[in-house]
Amino acid sequence: MEHSFPKYLLSKQSVDDRALNKDVLNALKANLPGEPFRIIEVGAGIGTMLKRLICWDVIRSVEYVMVDGMRENVAFARAWIPQFAGEAGMRAERSGDDRLRVYDEKRDIQIQLVEADVFDFIDTKPDPADVLIAHAFLDLLPLRESLPKLLALTKRLAWLTINFDGVTAFKPTIDAALDETIERLYHQTMDSRVTGGDSKSGRHLFGYLQNAGAEILAAGASDWVVHPLNRRYPNDEAYFLNFILTFLEGSLAEHPELNANVLKHWLSERREQVERGELVYIAHQMDFLVRALSAG
Ligand SMILES: C[S@@+](CC[C@H](N)C(=O)[O-])C[C@H]1O[C@@H](n2cnc3c(N)ncnc32)[C@H](O)[C@@H]1O
Repeated sequence: MEHSFPKYLLSKQSVDDRALNKDVLNALKANLPGEPFRIIEVGAGIGTMLKRLICWDVIRSVEYVMVDGMRENVAFARAWIPQFAGEAGMRAERSGDDRLRVYDEKRDIQIQLVEADVFDFIDTKPDPADVLIAHAFLDLLPLRESLPKLLALTKRLAWLTINFDGVTAFKPTIDAALDETIERLYHQTMDSRVTGGDSKSGRHLFGYLQNAGAEILAAGASDWVVHPLNRRYPNDEAYFLNFILTFLEGSLAEHPELNANVLKHWLSERREQVERGELVYIAHQMDFLVRALSAG
């Protein structure tokens, strides 16, 4: 299988669409300021959240700044955003390498693509947003020290979604003890990444947000639940599952507590389960809507 991070993010869209906590989303909609307003999305990847918010009619007239550190993602976004805008009946205009406008009679979205490490971007002191979005991103960072810096990017709201929270399950069981060991060691690797990370970021965010002076307006679970329907996965979710297994393989390869052949065998059984339309994958995650400290 060809492994492409942008393709993984494309395949993740339908999983995230189901997972996003709709009560938290409704709270976001109820608290949005009058348009036009400014959004900054950090760790924005290829722009899947931008597409979702347009297609779900959450935003119509906004300035949308997308920040991501991976060149491949930003290059993909540059070509993909005009494509999905066209499919949604919108026109697209480009100015320079980093500005796009997608619009029609009802909608006008001004997009800025920023290829940068998010903390370098913060150092440039950008105009603060009305809404900060961090989707499937915060659990990659050292949360305690990162959160105040990130929250300084918004003067009103932050919508912080798909924060992993300590539970992974692969079903059916291969070997209960081995399944449990692999899941536990996988979580440990999230806690020991050099760039930071937290395998229980969901529950820890309650305390970290409070310490950062943010007021929680809504919170709820946003679990990924990927399962076959009549032995077939919807959309591109078989690709999503294979990517997750490859990611897990990369995280656990050469782990001193895990025999390499045992892991290899376990992974090939899981991949066969995907092939046969049997594998169920669950990851527990949490979403938050918060009012930022600097909000009036
Ligand atoms: C799991 S992906 C999620 C992408 C997107 N939010 C989505 O769900 O489609 C995490 C993203 O964060 C980006 N990223 C990780 N660390 C970063 C950093 N320090 N600064 C900027 N981007 C970063 C990665 O390049 C990647 O695109």
